[in-house]
Amino acid sequence: MCKTGKTLALQVRYLLLFVITAIVFLSCNENNVMSERDRFIDSLMQEMTLEEKLGQLTAFSSGWDVTGPVLNEEYEKDVKAGRCGTLFNAHGVAYVTKLQKMAVEETRLGIPLLFGYDVIHGYKTTFPIPLAESCSWDLELIEKSTSMSAKEAAASGLNWTYNPMVDISRDPRWGRVAEGAGEDQFLGSQIAAAKVRGIQGSSLDDPLTLAACVKHFAAYGAAQAGRDYHTVDMSEIVFKEYYLPPYRAAIEAGAASVMTSFNELFGVPASGSTYLMQDLLRDELGFKGLLVTDYTSINEMVNHGYASDLQHAGELALKAGVDMDLQGSVYLDHLKKSLEEGAITMDQINRSVKRVLEIKYNLGLFEDPFLYLDEDREKDLVMSEEMYEHSFESGKRSIVLLKNEAYNGKELLPLKEPGNIALIGPLGNNDKDILGTWKASGTSSERTTILQGLKSRYPDANIQFAEGCGAIEEDRSGFSEAIQTARNADLVILAIGESAPLSGEASSRTDIGLPGVQEELVKEIQKLNKPIVALVLAGRPLTISHLEESVPAILYTWHLGSRMGDAVAAVLAGDYNPSGKLTMTFPRNVGQIPIHYNMKNTGRPYNPKDSYTTRYLDAPNDPLYPFGFGLSYTSFNYSDLTLSTSSISMDDSLEVSVEVTNSGEMAGEEVVQLYIRDLVGSITRPVKELKGFEKIMLEPGETKTVRFTLSVDDLKFYNGKLDYVAEPGRFKVFIGGSSVDVLEKDFELNM
Ligand code: BGC
Repeated sequence: MCKTGKTLALQVRYLLLFVITAIVFLSCNENNVMSERDRFIDSLMQEMTLEEKLGQLTAFSSGWDVTGPVLNEEYEKDVKAGRCGTLFNAHGVAYVTKLQKMAVEETRLGIPLLFGYDVIHGYKTTFPIPLAESCSWDLELIEKSTSMSAKEAAASGLNWTYNPMVDISRDPRWGRVAEGAGEDQFLGSQIAAAKVRGIQGSSLDDPLTLAACVKHFAAYGAAQAGRDYHTVDMSEIVFKEYYLPPYRAAIEAGAASVMTSFNELFGVPASGSTYLMQDLLRDELGFKGLLVTDYTSINEMVNHGYASDLQHAGELALKAGVDMDLQGSVYLDHLKKSLEEGAITMDQINRSVKRVLEIKYNLGLFEDPFLYLDEDREKDLVMSEEMYEHSFESGKRSIVLLKNEAYNGKELLPLKEPGNIALIGPLGNNDKDILGTWKASGTSSERTTILQGLKSRYPDANIQFAEGCGAIEEDRSGFSEAIQTARNADLVILAIGESAPLSGEASSRTDIGLPGVQEELVKEIQKLNKPIVALVLAGRPLTISHLEESVPAILYTWHLGSRMGDAVAAVLAGDYNPSGKLTMTFPRNVGQIPIHYNMKNTGRPYNPKDSYTTRYLDAPNDPLYPFGFGLSYTSFNYSDLTLSTSSISMDDSLEVSVEVTNSGEMAGEEVVQLYIRDLVGSITRPVKELKGFEKIMLEPGETKTVRFTLSVDDLKFYNGKLDYVAEPGRFKVFIGGSSVDVLEKDFELNM
């Protein structure tokens, strides 16, 4: 990289500033502890004008990717004028270098830019969508995926990602469930922390890591009726117990930034909520990093009916403690006037500017604004073999086997010698939808479709493909070709489900069945009486009762990314024994939503002999597939659930163990899950709460003892006064391979 005279001059200037602050720092006595970074930033801030400060609080999108209204197409001018301190959606070393030079060489103070991007499940090499990967229950794998995608993105010039998205959601109508880790806060918290570790590594100024941004604070996943951006309304107890923990976990793992959410909570839009941003995030959770808004969410406070105009909205956000305005330009355009009018203070502006400069400092940008910009590194790392291989690995481990019944006396899967295969369905040879939502800059080369994956895994099989219909279109003209193709085959593989735009942001659905005419196509194919394996590609749980009732084998394959075809073929063939377990409950129909495993019991629990108990007239209460469910090509037997004691006191813990045996004929992995139930509480407790899990590998016939420790902390919840407490009384412990298929025992917690 070539540095021009201005760049060099600025670097010398920052170097001098570093040296001076270091000398001053070293000469300070211990009682006057101010870090070198603070001194550096303070000196820099003394030189900044108000306009330059507001520029640092402003982020604009480059317009390469658009996820909302484009309010500013002249961002380059703003960069040069020092009116914009952060760009997002600009990437690639060449372009980022050009932009960074504008900031460093053409502005008065040469403050480097932050470059943000939604690297959600891969930058150019795409890994499975987060909901899919959560079904692996494999924290090491998840950490590795985020670390690999951070590495690839950092090699392309980025230094900040809007990841992890840790919003708990119990509503599959909401398209953004694809981006999260499902419905449970215990698993969600562990995944949130693993992702922060993966993204940030051990040091922010390592040019192969990024700064993480936890989003969307808070409770964005509880949009009413699953409609994106809709109102969120819940009690504070529910919020703190079920929705807050993953944000907390990500912050405790050291996340450098947090993003506000679009929704209102407790009647106040998040970006203007002092309760959320100050009392909770800063004071209670102890977050010290950068707080950025979601895209134009300050502006949206006017539509919410919380701010009278943009100026008022900006004042509310700044006063609530929001540091950076993403894309809305409200801080830049209005805060000067607000300051003149005395509606905000210079201290409030300085506080936020300091946080922006701190993250830039921590990323190493003041020392070297071009730290992340190395074309050779980009060439070596982007779409490298290592990335591509990991996409395959992670893809296999994200697939969930939902059904595998005997056909002609033998389980249909794995497919050893498939003979003549008809691959039918709109997603069978599709190289775009397999990437799913937020594909970042996932490329059109280097992907394997399901057809390609099958052909390379089964080179001797005769594989014929017919689309049959589009993913969402109503056109049935392809049915006859698909029927003919299926008629000539020994086995039909269906590749059906959702195209990528049907999930993700602004992609809520009221009918979450197979879209378009796909179910009709399935029914036509079924008339041929051939063995059928259904592959369901989707960004959310779909209502697939018809498949469950009538197709012998179902693999829920989600959107798996670059190596989707190879991953699916490896699982079909049994090269990899499926081990995924659902992290969201699958409803039978939309009328059951919200449905989640950790429900309350009610005063009239369901009793088939009594009509006046909680139930529907037209559908069972239980889901199609429960949380934690997923089959394997082998079987696991659980026995000897043992508790180390039948009662513990408030400072004790309890050892729980269980024997798990692989009772089938193939080696396989099992996610052993531990749940509890607090039988009587001052606040009623859910029928089950996940408190532990372990993924184990077992050879055929092998038995392992799996041990968990339950501490009193695991028994705590928020009581009516919002105190986090464990209450004495009886508890149940459940262990099994899903949230319903469990062994159980009781113990007592004493005062
Ligand atoms: C989304 C965020 C995303 C941001 C920037 C918004 O529309 O809600 O998740 O990080 O855009 O792209």
